Amino acid sequence: MCGIVGYIGYEQAAPFLIDGLEKLQYRGYDSAGVCVNDGEKLVVKKENGKLTVLKNMTDNGNNIAGTVGIGHTRWATHGKPSNENAHPHLSRSCSFAVVHNGIIENYMELKQELSAKGITFRSMTDTEVVVQLMENCYNGDMIDTVIRVMKMLKGSYALGIMFKDNPDEIIAVRKGSPLIIGIGEKENYLASDVPAILEKTRKIYRLDNDEIAVIRRDGVTVYDTNKNVRNKPVEIIEWNIDAAKKDGYEHFMMKEMMEQPKAVHDTIAERIKDGRVILDEIHLTPEQIRKFEKIHVIACGSAYHVGVVAKYVLENVLRKPVEADIASEFKYRDPIIDEKTLTIVISQSGETADTKEAMKEAQKRGSYAVAIVNVVGSAIASEADDVIYTLAGPEIAVATTKAYSAQLAVIYLLAIYFGDILGKISETDYQSYVSELQALPEKIQSILQTKEEIKNIASKLFACKDTFFIGRNIDYALSLEGSLKLKEISYIHSEAYAAGELKHGTISLIENRTLVIALATYGRLFEKIVSNIKEVQTRGAYVLGIGCEDHPELKEIAQSAILIPKTCDMMLPSLAVVPMQLFAYYVALFKGCEIDTPRNLAKSVTVE
Ligand code: F6R
Repeated sequence: MCGIVGYIGYEQAAPFLIDGLEKLQYRGYDSAGVCVNDGEKLVVKKENGKLTVLKNMTDNGNNIAGTVGIGHTRWATHGKPSNENAHPHLSRSCSFAVVHNGIIENYMELKQELSAKGITFRSMTDTEVVVQLMENCYNGDMIDTVIRVMKMLKGSYALGIMFKDNPDEIIAVRKGSPLIIGIGEKENYLASDVPAILEKTRKIYRLDNDEIAVIRRDGVTVYDTNKNVRNKPVEIIEWNIDAAKKDGYEHFMMKEMMEQPKAVHDTIAERIKDGRVILDEIHLTPEQIRKFEKIHVIACGSAYHVGVVAKYVLENVLRKPVEADIASEFKYRDPIIDEKTLTIVISQSGETADTKEAMKEAQKRGSYAVAIVNVVGSAIASEADDVIYTLAGPEIAVATTKAYSAQLAVIYLLAIYFGDILGKISETDYQSYVSELQALPEKIQSILQTKEEIKNIASKLFACKDTFFIGRNIDYALSLEGSLKLKEISYIHSEAYAAGELKHGTISLIENRTLVIALATYGRLFEKIVSNIKEVQTRGAYVLGIGCEDHPELKEIAQSAILIPKTCDMMLPSLAVVPMQLFAYYVALFKGCEIDTPRNLAKSVTVE
């Protein structure tokens, strides 16, 4: 959500700012803007709509002069998407400029106070109070002023601040929302995420909460809120530059789907040694693990869907109660959770505000939190008790694919690891789980190779209006993800239902040619799902079945069917999700949708 970039050096700033914003588009936005100090004044160019509008208006940044600047892509929260509400925002006399990611929760109160002092506001945003406060509080010392302003703000924020009279510094502040500083040669950068600066430098400082950075051409100084200088370690980004590029694919989503075998392989490879699952990241003793009476898995969106799979998998293997919780609901329902509960939080970005807050609530109640996170050093990773990184690499498309697959792989690792410690897995099962897990990348690859077949099916079905995904047991858990993938990128209304539940109301919506995607991979309940298929077909539904190769009769039962290789029950979602992702992708492609950046969505949702 919202992207921030900044540049200070001896080159022109605006072309870099525009390029950096382009690389952050995946975070989701509806307007974009830049501010450059031209030596006399702060020049702001900002426009509602896609970045191309700003690019054309500024000739890719070439018609704005100045060697220090900040830029922003805004995802509207307070105030509709518009030119006035786009960032950067200027203070009353145009001496300060601010870009902001996050939410200032007490902005109404602050706005009233400032308005009472005669300050008029140009926008409806919460951000504008920050820039007006900067000017109002400025006492000649920038750091003092920033600290004073921070003390007045409630909420979460990452800020980039410029002062007209000091063209030799950019100030960056972090509280809650991510911010990194790229270290170059006689030039330095600011960004909310690595892809924006990866072509310039691999050396970064990652700001922690309540840190203030003064970024100059020749160096960076980081302070805490007592004005003490912080000694920050330099982090070297190991990503391959191609990881943040499309690499010949039309969309990041396709590239990332194709990377799933590698994502799963990389996530498990180092954690299986000599046939045993080794999770050095877990610092719990076997004794502590045995003492947990239940497990809560907390996450949002697709990561929550991994949590629902985890409920089936972990309950089945560990024989302990497992709850899958939607993070935004968890925190505010006074959850029954204590030191006898293990909390597992799942997040690709590691910055999702709902998930982070829910984790903190669980920890506050005494629960031990293990986080499954993709982005190294992110807030959730830093604040969890233990973190297991998914090694999926950067995920750019808003709709998650490879991170989902890597998260599932970690759930299987945990099931095997905990199951062994709890004595719930026989040696034969242990070995078979490990070898099935190691075989997943190749099986995923074989499904990806059938993408033309899935494209062909999508070409016949993309005009559908309403879709129902149905499944039983682990197939139900997976149907949630299939449905979300389709609706978020193709804008087709879609619902996921436990197949047995459909007849308790929702079946009334099935009519001639309604598309029903029936997941029939869970062999133990194959006959039951076949009955559910018949029920909807009798009412006119067109059924696309997804099943395993050992049930080829699905091809006769459903109007269309996709067969996937067999694996052990708990790992079926890792295979069955792939045709559903591909189906959603091709449907969206045929409909001409913006696949990588669907409307209204943001990659990293940093507000509650
Ligand atoms: C859907 C999707 C979202 C995210 C959700 C949580 O394709 O990507 O539903 O799964 O916003 O995000 P993270 O995993 O970053 O916490």
